[in-house]
Amino acid sequence: MSTVDHYDSIPNNVNLHTDRKLQRALEKWQPNFLKWWMTMGPEGFQLDDIYLRTAISADSDGWANFDYVRMPDYRWGIFLADRVEGRTIGFGDEADELAWQQVPGEYRNELKRLIVTQGDTEPASVEQQRLLGLTCPSLYDLRNLFQVNVEEGRHLWAMVFLLHSYFGRDGREEAEALLHRNSGDADQPRILSAFNEPISDWLHFYMFTYFTDRDGKFQLLSLAESGFDPMARTARFMLTEEAHHMFVGETGVLRVVQRACELMKESPNEDARSLGGIDLITIQKYLNFWYTTSLDLFGGEVSTNAANYFAAGLKGRAYEQKKYEDHVILDSYYSVLKPEDDKIVDSDVPMRNALNSILRDSYVEDCQRGVDKWNKAIATAGINFELKLPHVGFNRTIGIFSNSSISPDGEVLEAEEFARRRNDWLPTAADQEYVATLMISVMERGKIANWICPPTKGIKGKPFEFEYVRRYAGESA
Ligand SMILES: [Fe+2]
Ligand SMILES: [Fe+2]
Repeated sequence: MSTVDHYDSIPNNVNLHTDRKLQRALEKWQPNFLKWWMTMGPEGFQLDDIYLRTAISADSDGWANFDYVRMPDYRWGIFLADRVEGRTIGFGDEADELAWQQVPGEYRNELKRLIVTQGDTEPASVEQQRLLGLTCPSLYDLRNLFQVNVEEGRHLWAMVFLLHSYFGRDGREEAEALLHRNSGDADQPRILSAFNEPISDWLHFYMFTYFTDRDGKFQLLSLAESGFDPMARTARFMLTEEAHHMFVGETGVLRVVQRACELMKESPNEDARSLGGIDLITIQKYLNFWYTTSLDLFGGEVSTNAANYFAAGLKGRAYEQKKYEDHVILDSYYSVLKPEDDKIVDSDVPMRNALNSILRDSYVEDCQRGVDKWNKAIATAGINFELKLPHVGFNRTIGIFSNSSISPDGEVLEAEEFARRRNDWLPTAADQEYVATLMISVMERGKIANWICPPTKGIKGKPFEFEYVRRYAGESA
């Protein structure tokens, strides 16, 4: 088991004190990170004590500590899952060779690209969510938002550790650039488009943490298989934290759905909006938007890049070791949907070229589980309505469907018809203005906004009424 150093200015289980050069480089980056956190991080709560979990080791039990902490004092640390002696590359052309402990020269650029792309999403989401605290529906939700934010900050640290440790000077430059690109910035936007979309209300936030953080889960699962061992170990520990982000999304949407149903039953014509709730149709539209925006993050359905990453042993399938027997996949095919004239047809693609589709299809399956739970709550309330994941071709801007107009049911439409019906399927400006009117800050202990149900339980055995955020009583800074 690796030892944990808590006394270092950067808590870590990577023996940072034995590498003075690396330690100095990270200590130089640290104040820039904090500056970024104070200007681009959560607005308005930096002096308050928040009941947060902090990673203190990578042990499967007891890896986190829960306590009050001011966000700028959060101990962002570097934790990698323990090294497995003799670990081998699990797939691709070099399967069964020893896993790399250093970056192989021939894959240096590809690896750096993978790390920078993953790293860029982490601070991006903090930026996207920076104003949400001002309209929190409860202290419990406020705390969950900040928990997600500080951990995305730690994921940034994890990627910066890899850049600084293994990529020399250009790694350090990339680490700086991760703080300089900003979500939605006209000149220097974040790399992937989902991370430039504004998250202007809490329904967007819950959908984002359900659907977009789940894309993160699948990217991390595929990186956790990597033959570049430090990346695999980093990704494995990040997955531990990621689970909570998706929990926040799943239960957040569930609570909005439950409240919609309660209000529908109170309203003479089942109109949740008339009683200040978010109606199920609007929830479906937000779902449609974030699900399809997140599908774009998997990249093209047929991709030579994905094939090359796999061949090189850099990026595997999710659960490569657990789920599959053939890790070379040279003679197999995978069925990929594609639009053809006015139909959507199956086509057989050499499996290595279909790896983005394979990862995406596992993601779709995983998404469905939450939707089933939301529908169960609707059915239990006795309401006749079903939320649905739209067709994978709907509303796509990347990949095989990006030039087609596909309805949520999978019909191929003329572009004009799609444009005409778009407002029935995706959140309109009016929908978002309506939701915005509901976003009023509720900061009293045990109280909750009208448009959402309280959670069934609190954090770490605490009740919902717990003071998850203690406001700073002094002069504001
Ligand atoms: Fe993350
Ligand atoms: Fe996350």
